[in-house]
Amino acid sequence: MRHFLSLKDFTKDEILEMITLAQKIKKETKAKNFVPYLEKQTLGMIFEKSSTRTRVSFETGIYQLGGIGLFLSSNDIQLGRGEPMKDTSRVISRMVDMVMIRTFEQSKLEEFAKYSKVPVINGLTDSYHPVQVMTDYLTMLEFGVTQPVVAYVGDGNNMTHSWLMLAAKLGFELRIATPKGYECDKNIVEEAFEIAKESGAKISFGNDPKVAVAGTNVVTTDTWISMGQEDEKEERIKAFDGYIVDEALMSLTEKDAIFLHCLPAYRDYEVSETIFEKHADEIFSEAENRLHAQKGIMVWLNEHRD
Ligand code: CP
Ligand code: NVA
Repeated sequence: MRHFLSLKDFTKDEILEMITLAQKIKKETKAKNFVPYLEKQTLGMIFEKSSTRTRVSFETGIYQLGGIGLFLSSNDIQLGRGEPMKDTSRVISRMVDMVMIRTFEQSKLEEFAKYSKVPVINGLTDSYHPVQVMTDYLTMLEFGVTQPVVAYVGDGNNMTHSWLMLAAKLGFELRIATPKGYECDKNIVEEAFEIAKESGAKISFGNDPKVAVAGTNVVTTDTWISMGQEDEKEERIKAFDGYIVDEALMSLTEKDAIFLHCLPAYRDYEVSETIFEKHADEIFSEAENRLHAQKGIMVWLNEHRD
């Protein structure tokens, strides 16, 4: 049995298999051919943080695959009152067929997975958001980007770490620009470099968004204030001055470069209103693709049970 906790646990071929499955199921879904790949299966969805896309896409996705989603907010289940993760796992995983968790520390997700009888999917932690970058890769392919040169501008956070793993595994070029003091986690960077040795991925870091985006065909960013960092809002806004993705910055990319944002977006902080609306087609196709990419992941995990 496999869990989907981080892309570092998968080979390039496995990642591409999930993408291919997602493309196939998307085509079937668009033709209103709802193949019951996960008939009568239940997906438990544990949320310790807020969500719009992750909740709606997983719940709709499992339903369209012939199963049902259970929304389990930590405000409503005993986890929120201190029931240990390992007990929660040993209870829920005896009743459902798959679990998706959105939580804080990656270690909490790993603890749940260690005790789980069923596959566990990372629906975002402080360290990673792997279902989102799988979606982003699917979206890049749909927009004709087959040789990605990606610039990530902003906070060295869970999205950046996921981009690092995606690039390292698939072997494409990724340039990251973060302000000083907001760089990526050193251990994750080391792991990514180790993986990149094999794939040939070109990964670079800097503090100048202009240098990062020059000549790229994909630009992406994320909020400067992730869930759980609300108390740091004022200092972060000051630190990220100059990191907005606006017309001036986008003018340095390759012609027809696409812009991706995992959403929610904060206009005139990490992205200008003009750039956001100019690239709305990419951004909202990316949002829709959460539904399709995650179906690929769920069906793949189901096919790889013991
Ligand atoms: N991108 C993303 O995960 O959105 P939600 O927080 O709304 O789920
Ligand atoms: N980095 C953001 C992503 C939201 C989808 C957060 O963790 O809040």
